[in-house]
Amino acid sequence: MEQEKIQALCNDMTIEEKVGQLLQINGNYFLEDAVLTGPEIEMGFTEEEIKNCGSILNAWGADKIKQIQDKIMEGQPHHIPAIIILDVINGFRTIAPIPLAQGCSFDPELVTQAAKNVAKEAAVSGVQLTFSPMVDLVRDPRWGRVMESTGEDKYLNSQMGAAMVKGYQGEDLKEKYRIGACVKHFAGYGAPEGGREYNAVELSPRTLFEDYLPAYRACVEAEAVSVMTAFHTLDRIPCTANKWLLRDVLRKQMEFDGVLISDYSAILELINHGVAEDKEQAARLALRAGVDIDMMSNCYTSSIKELIRKGELDEQLLDEAVLRVLTLKNKLGLFEHPYKDASVEAEQEILLCEEHKKTARKLTEESFVLLENDGILPLKTKGQKIAFVGPYANKKDLYGVWSMMAQTEDGASLKEVVPAFYPDNQYCFESGCNLEEAGTLLEGLGSSFTPEYSKEEQELALDRAEEAARTADVVVVTIGEHRLQTGEAASRASLTLYEKQLELLDRVHNVNKNVVVVLFNGRPLLLKEIKQKAKAILEVWLPGTEGAEAIADTLFGKANPSGKLTMSFPEAIGQIPVHYDVLSTGRSKDLCTSPTKFCSCYQDVSNKPLYPFGYGLSYTSFSYGNVTLEKKILSRKENESMEARVAITNVGDRMGTEIVQLYVQDVKGSVSRPVKELKGFERISLMPGESKEVSFTITKKMLRFYDLTMDYCSEPGEFRVYIGANSEVKDYVSFQLI
Ligand code: GLC
Repeated sequence: MEQEKIQALCNDMTIEEKVGQLLQINGNYFLEDAVLTGPEIEMGFTEEEIKNCGSILNAWGADKIKQIQDKIMEGQPHHIPAIIILDVINGFRTIAPIPLAQGCSFDPELVTQAAKNVAKEAAVSGVQLTFSPMVDLVRDPRWGRVMESTGEDKYLNSQMGAAMVKGYQGEDLKEKYRIGACVKHFAGYGAPEGGREYNAVELSPRTLFEDYLPAYRACVEAEAVSVMTAFHTLDRIPCTANKWLLRDVLRKQMEFDGVLISDYSAILELINHGVAEDKEQAARLALRAGVDIDMMSNCYTSSIKELIRKGELDEQLLDEAVLRVLTLKNKLGLFEHPYKDASVEAEQEILLCEEHKKTARKLTEESFVLLENDGILPLKTKGQKIAFVGPYANKKDLYGVWSMMAQTEDGASLKEVVPAFYPDNQYCFESGCNLEEAGTLLEGLGSSFTPEYSKEEQELALDRAEEAARTADVVVVTIGEHRLQTGEAASRASLTLYEKQLELLDRVHNVNKNVVVVLFNGRPLLLKEIKQKAKAILEVWLPGTEGAEAIADTLFGKANPSGKLTMSFPEAIGQIPVHYDVLSTGRSKDLCTSPTKFCSCYQDVSNKPLYPFGYGLSYTSFSYGNVTLEKKILSRKENESMEARVAITNVGDRMGTEIVQLYVQDVKGSVSRPVKELKGFERISLMPGESKEVSFTITKKMLRFYDLTMDYCSEPGEFRVYIGANSEVKDYVSFQLI
């Protein structure tokens, strides 16, 4: 529909219809069995409000969506179609690894392909927009939602977030199988005090702009059609009522002209934050701040009309918001095709299709990170007796928590896959213990935790696992978190596994030293104790539909792990927040003369994480030549740039892929600068003995930062270039920027 007709439609709508377009409610108001993704409190929606709603969330299925859309359009004077929205963050029916794992692939192209497949499966099931990508930068693994982000680095998060937007939206949303992206959670949600969910966020403007905003900006530049506001306060102002953040920063500075959606009931929660007296004030604050859609609260629908009548709210603000919502519907082609790509036939053909499983399999393998290996991996493919013990030995649903559409039967367990793929060994499989203490309350998003064993049964299970380990050549210990221990409202004050899982590892290690740990988790954990009892540790995160197959092929060497950590694993919880791009401080430990006094360190642990950002091993080894720079001096003239080069050689005995990382340090600035920052990366695959030169282009643009006056610019001086296998690379070469 032409834009003029959109404007004409808006002008022709009653105020009730207009306000209805700003309401987003859960699909369960139209269906009996929808999933809830937030606190379901009695919202008190009226029939009228429900009838006029402009978008729905948490409903899917071609048939159901068509029924819902028909009901909505029939019930409205202008028969305006609703936008159908769902959290499809790492897959619809074909489930990919959690985003934190996808980031470890350092493979944006593959992430784009995976997102395109997600969009296709969601689109044929009636979904038209997804609440993804989540690009909140994270440095605190106590926060459960780190699993939804791609980690602690602004550059990588920017690359990955834009890759997902591209995969979902393509070039034209009207194209078949494209869905809108909704970038979240604006802004800085990944830095709650104490790692406690929904808690206050305290960031200086410079840190906010320097570290936390770049990835949202990258997604807006990738033309994401919507953004979601975060629950928390920033500088003691709730993001959902933060006019500076939403209108000045997002809309003006980032030039975002799409639809701004509140998070679940976040407008109503302005009352709990203590900045709104009632729903009327909450509605006024949010609409003035620029929030277009009220997700799962009726502050807008119950207040805006009266506020305008009383002259307490400018109707222009309402019209702007409605116009943005109608424009988005038009971009999606909903006025011509209200069901968009919903098709029962296509669902049968496309969901879980081989092509999508193949892409998921590749991304899953690339997401694994080999943390330790003394050579025990890869396992021998014949003549061995191998015991798989642990709660994940015989578990099929290896999905991240935001996988409401996944079916347990879609996936396979290690117990099913390993003997089938590698039949020339002897195997036994023992769960050994529960994932969590029986009686632990874990629930949400349509699933809950049910322990496999009672207390007594668990002791017998541990005995069986120990016995199986005693007589095996190798023991693969499959332990980790339950998926409901990660994600939203899953903050934890400890980062160690359930004690019975550690007891299992201990008892196995006592009878057999040939231990390989396969770790299933959605956040960095404390692994010091596990590291002492394992000859190898393979981090597989929550790997999705193809998880068991990818793990089997990696354990037995058909796949060679290449993933690199996107979030530091702390040595101790007291180090948190721990990340690689720290400031040197005035008394850096590295420059310290005294062993412990008067320098920036701890008395009881090192400053370093157990495993740093960018770290990951391979079954082969790579050696790095010296870094060379094309120039020693780079001028800030517009199109000046230069190449940084290094030769990488595979010095091992098997093909492998290395993720070569470029870091740059701005040695001196008008403000203190990080010791290094990721500025580029490249995946290269090398045969044994093969060498390749990797070249990175260094531009003055990549050297910019927010200077003393918060101008975004580069400053002259010395810069150090590091190219290496992880963020702890030491050798550098310098150049002068003039
Ligand atoms: C949740 C989450 C948000 C999600 C939304 C809709 O509370 O914070 O990430 O997209 O509600 O499910």
